[in-house]
Amino acid sequence: MTEAQERGGDAHLVAGPDVSANPATEPHMSELIAVRLSRRTVLVGGMAAVAGFLTRGIAAPPGYAAAAGRDGKATAKAGKLLGFAAIPLGFLDEVAVPAGYTARPFIPWGTPILGSYPAFRPGANTAEEQAQQVGMHHDGMHFFPLARGVKGTRRGLLVVNHEYTDERYLQTGTATMPPVSEWTLEMVRKSQNAHGVSVVEIARGGDGVWQIIRSGLNRRITGNTPMSLSGSAAGHRLLRTKADPAGQRPLGTLNNCAHGFTPWSTYLTCEENFHDYFRLDAGPYDAEHVALNQRYGVGGDKNNWATNDPRFVVTADDPNEPNRFGWVVEIDPFDAGSTPVKRTALGRIKHEGAFVHVTKGGRVVVYMGDDQVNEYVYKFVSAGNWRSLRARGRSPLDTGTLYVARFDADGTGGWLPLVHGHGPLTEANGFRDQGDVLVKTRLAATELGATPMDRPEWTSVDANTGMVYVTLTNNTSSSKVENAANPRKPNRWGHIVRWEEARGDHAATTFRWDLFLLAGQGRTSGDGSTIDDEDAFGSPDGIWVDPDGRVWIETDGTQPAGANDQMLAANPYVTDAQGAPEIKRFFTGVLGAEVTGVITTPDQRTMFANIQHPGESKASTWPQDDGFETPRAATVVITKDDGGVIGT
Ligand code: FEO
Ligand code: CA
Ligand code: CA
Repeated sequence: MTEAQERGGDAHLVAGPDVSANPATEPHMSELIAVRLSRRTVLVGGMAAVAGFLTRGIAAPPGYAAAAGRDGKATAKAGKLLGFAAIPLGFLDEVAVPAGYTARPFIPWGTPILGSYPAFRPGANTAEEQAQQVGMHHDGMHFFPLARGVKGTRRGLLVVNHEYTDERYLQTGTATMPPVSEWTLEMVRKSQNAHGVSVVEIARGGDGVWQIIRSGLNRRITGNTPMSLSGSAAGHRLLRTKADPAGQRPLGTLNNCAHGFTPWSTYLTCEENFHDYFRLDAGPYDAEHVALNQRYGVGGDKNNWATNDPRFVVTADDPNEPNRFGWVVEIDPFDAGSTPVKRTALGRIKHEGAFVHVTKGGRVVVYMGDDQVNEYVYKFVSAGNWRSLRARGRSPLDTGTLYVARFDADGTGGWLPLVHGHGPLTEANGFRDQGDVLVKTRLAATELGATPMDRPEWTSVDANTGMVYVTLTNNTSSSKVENAANPRKPNRWGHIVRWEEARGDHAATTFRWDLFLLAGQGRTSGDGSTIDDEDAFGSPDGIWVDPDGRVWIETDGTQPAGANDQMLAANPYVTDAQGAPEIKRFFTGVLGAEVTGVITTPDQRTMFANIQHPGESKASTWPQDDGFETPRAATVVITKDDGGVIGT
């Protein structure tokens, strides 16, 4: 997603993440109203509690205290997690990293990885060529080692989401948009082929530089790749179309924002803003589709696909194609011929990420945000141990319970099960079966009284402590719902909430939450932020807690002083007298771009981060060393010059 998309465009005024599609715009819980009156007190108390259970063990939930002290590893390293010298805000058309680190652009949009390996020709590549090249607008990604041990730190599969396209640069190589009257099917196919996911085998040479391998595992998954559906909604009446009457064989994945990865080495790609690839014909639609299209904001045809591809024209007699998007898609990167699977048990929302954590009993828990104003935070818990389920030929992502979060004002919270027949999720309220609950996840979650949030983006779990983090990127909508977990109105700068599951059990149905930080220009600025002025940032989006506990925070949107987007590292184990974590700015991006996607090799000595949509809101020619004026999204490879762990 982009700030320009958040703010601009008529389509987004109707349907974008800055506009609520959630009619539940009043607080659901009476206690939240009380909190509004004493917000400041709660905030101060909240931050004190954070500092307490991290540094002094006071008021520590039992599971957290035990986890933090379990092997002494986290606490021994706690004071010196961030060994680099913080860098200043960035304003230039180049990336910056701390002294002693090197950053190199890698696999920019258009890099050939397949087939005839067609060279990048800005604006001139065909649709077929684009399907053999890295897609546009890199987002979430993961590195899968191709070997155990040291070899696995030198060779692996980099799997990268391509969230969306800038049709100007895609179609013309310049900032000029072709008129819609001239749109052709070839242009639509090129755009669809620049979406999806890239799988690229890469290896690190003796000189430390990463290179692309011409591997049989290299793959492009696009907006037209054949997929299957699994889980309770597979074959559901709301997923059937004229082209696929069985409702089992959707085509393509769209708006692949953040991601996840499983303990059985598959990749999860998340479909976020799928709604505005469609043109919504006038109808009339039945009441069920009216409600669905309204709540998910279907319509807009932002990429002009409906001009030439009837699949993206929604009509009253074939209304279900949009329902086949908004899912988490599982991809086996180690089998280039495998069919990606849309896992419906994980719900249908504008999925940001799908962070997988394994409970002590071996169940998988998937934490997920739904990125639109006043939407919710979810988790899925598998019905059993993932190894046992797979041994019986069942996917752990098909069998389990989907929950939505309620954040109570007293710092506790609950997970509300999205199960047909539970509470209000009955036929009387429009939910005939579990498939209905899943296709209409947002509507079901509202029925249960979930807590509206300020655009939930990525989630991540600190494996040292079990703490779960979620970024709330911002919310300046007049419809914003104010509550204890989303205390600023308007919330221009965003914040980060975290919680600990009861007894440290990620399958639990209750938790304790707190505010990790409120972002902004710094605490002396008066904008309500709880961080030091020198650590100023806004619009947190990507978040990943590395194995040592560093909390990497990436931004997408308004930054202090109009600076470029950035990535910072926080040390959650060290807090200052006012309760803020230690934070250092590690990376700054380029003009008009967001910084998103972050992962390291298993030895933590190579970091991959993405520059998305350079040149979108400000002119850019990055990456400068590729010989082209056209700005190109790319991965950035970050290494430490002494070969050390990133962040030390
Ligand atoms: Fe694609 Fe919510 O960022
Ligand atoms: Ca975003
Ligand atoms: Ca994002």
